[in-house]
Amino acid sequence: MKQQGLLDHRPHGGMADPDFVRAVSTGLRQQPKSIPCRFFYDTAGSRLFDRICDLPEYYPTRTELALLAAHADQFASLIGPGAEVVEFGAGSGDKVRLLLDALDQPAIYRPIDISGEFLLSSAQRLARDYHDLSVRPVIADFTQPIPLPAARPGTRRVGFFPGSTIGNFAPAQATRFLRGAARLLRGGGLLIGVDLVKDREVLRRAYDDAQGVTAAFNRNVLVRANEELGADFDLDRFAHRALFNEAHSRIEMHLVSQVAQIVRIGEQEFSFADGETIHTENSYKYTVGDFRRLAASAGFTPLHVWTDIDRLFSLHWLEA
Ligand code: AVJ
Repeated sequence: MKQQGLLDHRPHGGMADPDFVRAVSTGLRQQPKSIPCRFFYDTAGSRLFDRICDLPEYYPTRTELALLAAHADQFASLIGPGAEVVEFGAGSGDKVRLLLDALDQPAIYRPIDISGEFLLSSAQRLARDYHDLSVRPVIADFTQPIPLPAARPGTRRVGFFPGSTIGNFAPAQATRFLRGAARLLRGGGLLIGVDLVKDREVLRRAYDDAQGVTAAFNRNVLVRANEELGADFDLDRFAHRALFNEAHSRIEMHLVSQVAQIVRIGEQEFSFADGETIHTENSYKYTVGDFRRLAASAGFTPLHVWTDIDRLFSLHWLEA
């Protein structure tokens, strides 16, 4: 399969990621079919996600950035001087910079991410710009317990989990994550961004934009399967669908088969009925009260909450 002169920068030495292989073949054998949303984020998918964040319909990113900028002084006084900041997931760095700029002499920054390459490059950029900050990236899956060294005596350890990434967790997983975070951050707290329940059309449009960027992001998982697993998904025969599931208070994304068809992945065949879907993502939406109750049930003391005037998005300060 290797072409001459083609440099392969993929991890796994150009071999298919075994986790992706397994997840696709088990997910497509299940009823209803599904593929976990973590597989959206290869290089192309991460670029598409960055474009989503700039879409007029996708309010979360800009609303959260505005909240972070508007209340930075308050975070600084809640957190205090010389803090250790643990970020769950390494973002582009834009958000944590707003926080770090506001804090009084933050001492340590520990971004935790499963994607080593992305983590190290963003950590390097931060270290270059914040000379007095000790940047210590941790390659780990933050949905699992993470062993960190005890916080330095006199430094407060605070967690930062922006973007409403917690929305990808089902409530039981969210509780489990928060329990682990409360243990890790004891004596400090967690600053977390949470998307709110709102008008269902506003929600749906945020996940089905006019330019079709979210549709391309969703279909990218099939592009990846074609490229990395040798699948033969016909992209024109799978439509993007986003819907708000009221009973579960979540946006669901699906890829809907437009005809009855058979897809081949290596030796395996998967048949799709006309209209059958692959469920690719859940994005849970909370009320402020529901999220505070969830945090409290996981061992946090919810103290402050900030929202924009339209109540689109919320930031919570939870004491651990
Ligand atoms: C990164 C999980 C917060 O749920 O809004 C955006 C992902 N999916 N558009 C979200 C996403 C489709 C996003 N999170």
